[in-house]
Amino acid sequence: MSRILTAVAWPYANGPRHIGHVAGFGVPSDVFSRYQRMAGNEVLMVSGTDEHGTPIQVQADREGVSARELADRYNRVIAEDLQGLGLSYDLFTRTTTRNHYSVVQTIFKSLYDNGYVTERSQLSAIDPVTGRGLPDRYVEGTCPICSYDGARGDQCDNCGNQLDPKDLINPRSKIDGKTPAFVESAQFFLELPAFAEALGGWLQTRTDWRPNVLKFSQNLLDDLRPRAITRDLDWGVPIPLPGWSDREDKRIYVWFDAVIGYLSASVEWARRTGDPDAWRPFWGPDATSAYFMGKDNVVFHSVIWPALLLGASGKPAGKPGPLGELALPGEVVSSEFLTMEGKKFSSSRSVVIYVRDVLERYGADALRYYLAAAGPESSDTDFTWSQFVTRNNTELVAGWGNLVNRTVSMVEKNIGAIPPAGELLGPDHAALEGSRAAFGPIGALLARSQQKAALAEAMKVVAEANRYLSEQAPWKLKGDDEVARRDTVLHVALQLVDDAKTLLTPFLPGSSEQVHRMLGGTEVWSGQPELQEVDDLDGGPGYPVLMGDYDTEAVWESRPLRVGHQVAKPVPLFVKLDPSVVDEELARLEDAAP
Ligand code: MF3
Ligand code: ZN
Repeated sequence: MSRILTAVAWPYANGPRHIGHVAGFGVPSDVFSRYQRMAGNEVLMVSGTDEHGTPIQVQADREGVSARELADRYNRVIAEDLQGLGLSYDLFTRTTTRNHYSVVQTIFKSLYDNGYVTERSQLSAIDPVTGRGLPDRYVEGTCPICSYDGARGDQCDNCGNQLDPKDLINPRSKIDGKTPAFVESAQFFLELPAFAEALGGWLQTRTDWRPNVLKFSQNLLDDLRPRAITRDLDWGVPIPLPGWSDREDKRIYVWFDAVIGYLSASVEWARRTGDPDAWRPFWGPDATSAYFMGKDNVVFHSVIWPALLLGASGKPAGKPGPLGELALPGEVVSSEFLTMEGKKFSSSRSVVIYVRDVLERYGADALRYYLAAAGPESSDTDFTWSQFVTRNNTELVAGWGNLVNRTVSMVEKNIGAIPPAGELLGPDHAALEGSRAAFGPIGALLARSQQKAALAEAMKVVAEANRYLSEQAPWKLKGDDEVARRDTVLHVALQLVDDAKTLLTPFLPGSSEQVHRMLGGTEVWSGQPELQEVDDLDGGPGYPVLMGDYDTEAVWESRPLRVGHQVAKPVPLFVKLDPSVVDEELARLEDAAP
């Protein structure tokens, strides 16, 4: 048994989730966690809504509400979306809790005490009209290195170099297109160059990362500069230093606080389970961790977050802070982008499909299946409704759903309970062997987050089971002297169904639960997240969280059937979609376009 922290990127609380958001890290992190739990490991899966920063303030202005009201609104909406998708968070919280503020301030202080956070003066961009600070990402202009015109103040997406807003040629505010003003102001900086060697040595040990992520991260080390971690803003975590903590115009920058969310959420989870130290083993030297995110977030997880963890642990110099020595990320699993019918997903341009709408119309497992089978795991990928409908109909309905349906209904009609197996013949042995042998390789793929390949292998087991059934044709075995053979075939077929149910559980937890019930299971097979209203642990306003009991029956192995158990009449697991769905959905997209 090992302990595994699954750290899932924190969505901004600035709108409902669209499927681009959940394809990259939502479903993959859940598939990973569910598999690891089934394999006998203890998993802590945490995340929450990211509620500070300009994305929140800009949207609040648009909707005419305060940042806090906006964050409250979308924290709830997002928690509901993710629950509907069946993502098995041990805790999904938010960054505006008092616990989060306190953990962020503790880390800031530890870094400051160890000399890794220093005060410097910098030219920062402000909106010339409102005087409000313009965070790096909201200043756009021409890249001084490659001349790309859409470079952002923090980074150029064309050449990948890290930038400073004042380096941009022809800078303009992304909010209103105006030229920002630049003013000198005092900020706190993270002394990134002090970590270059330690980070380099650590990255060299990360041999199991996806090669492009590793290469990208190593390249970033060539140009490490001190990085501002505070801003002229009034929405964010206050700076925990005398003379600064009650200033209304200076705050810790959103990216610094958001990555610390992984730790604060672990602490909050521990406090809520009644053992306030329970988070520690997940952050100690013996634990492993996997961080899931979109590719635009890699630098924060492979360089900045590890630097914060090192500095707060007293490395390369200094003393560990009150939270002790904290482990660096094990795996950084980043996905590529999902486009929508050939266009980039964008809420503002309505090139968008909301998770909520898909869940309502087609169900969680249909969406999870498609995203796992055709998501942006290792290359930019286009979502098309015609593919969604085709794969749903051929793979889920005609493949897996049909196998369950014809097997279970034959047993239910003819026998009513799981029959014992009589003498097994060659094809029976071969079929059973094949599905039993699939657990090892598919598990290995899942452990390395090669989920597309894992799902394809699991679906081969389904296809083999369908073939076995067609070849053995138990429906033809009607004579008195054939009934024993028929029951043996049905027994084998049920075992194959049961194995496939297990292999598909990380991807399709809801329908696997249904299959488990059809085969006489009475305990919960795969747990689902629950939305609970909780009090803030330190006296702030209450809020909704996702938590759940995932310590359930599901285990990563072929288990013998429970002979004699009642078999239930099968219910349809998936819905066959009419091809007209494609046109309907495309029309919706056009209607929504401005
Ligand atoms: N909210 C950020 C985004 O959507 C991601 C934050 S991930 C975390 O791009 F690491 F900071 F938590
Ligand atoms: Zn550039």
